[in-house]
Amino acid sequence: MIKKCLFPAAGYGTRFLPFTKAMPKEMLPIVNKPLMQYGVEEAMSAGIYNMAIVTGRGKRAIEDHFDISYELEHQIKGTDKEIYLNDIRKILNTCSFSYTRQIEMKGLGHAILTGENLIGNEPFAVLLSDDLCDNNGDSVLKQMCKIYEKYRCSIVAVEEVEINEVSKYGVISGKKIDNNIIVVDNMMEKPNKEEAPSNLAVIGRYILTPDIFQILKNTKPGKNGEIQITDALLEQCKNGMVLAYKFNGTRYDCGSVDGFIKATNVFYQKYKG
Ligand code: UTP
Repeated sequence: MIKKCLFPAAGYGTRFLPFTKAMPKEMLPIVNKPLMQYGVEEAMSAGIYNMAIVTGRGKRAIEDHFDISYELEHQIKGTDKEIYLNDIRKILNTCSFSYTRQIEMKGLGHAILTGENLIGNEPFAVLLSDDLCDNNGDSVLKQMCKIYEKYRCSIVAVEEVEINEVSKYGVISGKKIDNNIIVVDNMMEKPNKEEAPSNLAVIGRYILTPDIFQILKNTKPGKNGEIQITDALLEQCKNGMVLAYKFNGTRYDCGSVDGFIKATNVFYQKYKG
């Protein structure tokens, strides 16, 4: 039912300077695989094979990664190193990639609006690949797609965070209607802990209905002068329904050095078996 996944990947990644001076943070490796490949594999696990990527200046490595490297293929063909390319070959054989460029970094809401031409008039997933999610069962996006099938409205993935951390996130409040599902009645971008409506923070997984594009076109710059998806979603929940979903799994904020190191340690243990 959800056929496309949008990857906003145009941000500057200032928390990871100087690495991000010339390299996209989405290409940071967790063990031997870039963050964005984990994101693409999560989308595939939810049955989504059309990847729509919003890039910006200095992000060429993303396009090169999701492409064939003939020289490399030729070089390692028939050697024992070929297995290292198995996963990426599978991706290239099954997925399509389309790109558009955000010229000015005016915020996540603006990046999503920039992707409108790639998405069109259909519901879609949004995955921020610096939020890496780890699961034993269904991936977070797969869990959300199942909820979408039942409710057919925008859905944000949330998790409880320390109250001192709420100022880093979009924060929601609302009424629980089902196991782990909340109808959102309020949403604030990066509130301070005194004004935060709860400690339920939105993480980088969304399912959005396409009316969000028209709302984003009318959304004024909010917190930090950026066009915020949080403000557009609040508008959407006033006129209809937006759900928040407390997902199963662990999420690592790999856009921060601490989260990146934690994820690296956990995934390294898995890699070693
Ligand atoms: P972040 O705020 O985490 O990313 O945005 P950032 O701005 O790159 O990182 P810092 O805070 O400076 O370290 C969340 C997501 O939205 C994308 C980012 O690439 C990231 O995936 N984004 C943000 C855009 O694509 N365009 C923007 O204008 C802003």
